[in-house]
Amino acid sequence: MPTTDGELSPLDLPGIERAVTQALDDIAAATTLDELKEVRIAHTSERSALALANRAIGALPREDKAQAGKNLGPARGRINQALARRKDELEEERDQRVIAEEAVDVTVPTDRVVAGARHPLELMQERVADFFVAMGWEIAEGPELEAEWFNFDALNIAVDHPSRQMQDSFYVAPPLGQTDSNLVLRTQTSSVQVRELLTRDLPLYIACPGKVFRSDELDATHSPVFHQVEGLAVDRGLTMAHLKGVLDHFAKALFGDQAKTRLRPSFFPFTEPSAEMDLWFPHKKGGPGWIEWGGCGMVNPNVLRSAGIDPDEYTGFAFGMGIERSVMLRHSIADMRDMVEGDVRFARQFGMEI
Ligand code: DAH
Repeated sequence: MPTTDGELSPLDLPGIERAVTQALDDIAAATTLDELKEVRIAHTSERSALALANRAIGALPREDKAQAGKNLGPARGRINQALARRKDELEEERDQRVIAEEAVDVTVPTDRVVAGARHPLELMQERVADFFVAMGWEIAEGPELEAEWFNFDALNIAVDHPSRQMQDSFYVAPPLGQTDSNLVLRTQTSSVQVRELLTRDLPLYIACPGKVFRSDELDATHSPVFHQVEGLAVDRGLTMAHLKGVLDHFAKALFGDQAKTRLRPSFFPFTEPSAEMDLWFPHKKGGPGWIEWGGCGMVNPNVLRSAGIDPDEYTGFAFGMGIERSVMLRHSIADMRDMVEGDVRFARQFGMEI
């Protein structure tokens, strides 16, 4: 029963049904929450056909009111339910889309170049080399795979000398059919001494930072591969006073003005006299104190003779210390393994040093 001005009559059940069908179609067709909002306004607002029809109930004769209410109530209820369901669906879709669009794929390769860092052991070896070069010394580099003769014999360490056992060496297996390779992974940078004495002219002042190898287990204070720096000076008239002067100067360069060294009598086959060298370390845990830093001495005449040098004409001094130990002291590093494991986060703390 359409009204004269085209309004939906609350008693026009087919008309109400059509309005509901239209609303449900529009709701289903809405693909965004904005579209759904339009649909809701069109079909449920004050000015919607069904709302107006509802309002018209008041003007109906009393006996028709109940029927009109039964017509409109469930009709409007179905529309509201469909709206709510669709709203949930569209919100869910939107949430999924946002999650997908805003997701960060951490596995996508980046074009940002992560800056690495120079390793503190490299920096220390460079610092050491710079120090000696500044004094007019030269830098020497021997091979890491070394003739036993340079590593031991030439340094006055005879085959049966107990000091061969002082350092646990990595010997190199002989070639097939031979009994001995005569090669060893150098156990000390002292192996460069006679090598350099044989190839360079005198006087000679050299420093050799480099890798050495000993069959030690890796722990907080040992590593089978570590670094040393060797110093060797051979000239006319060199004495232990020169040695002491160089060591103190070197200590200050690495550890600051307060640093100094102390020598304690000791034994090395390649020096006579020999000394352990301690470093006065102001930042020692528990207060300043002496810390063992390396070995040194006057070059044993037998070593000079190995290189064909007359020990009556020339004398020399030599020293050697651990690079790892120096880095650990300088930067208060407690565990040697930090320096071996190659974690860039460790190296980065030192990488800014120039
Ligand atoms: N080569 C010794 C070591 O590895 C250190 C050393 C001691 C080197 C005395 C020297 C020296 O040049 O004179 O334990």
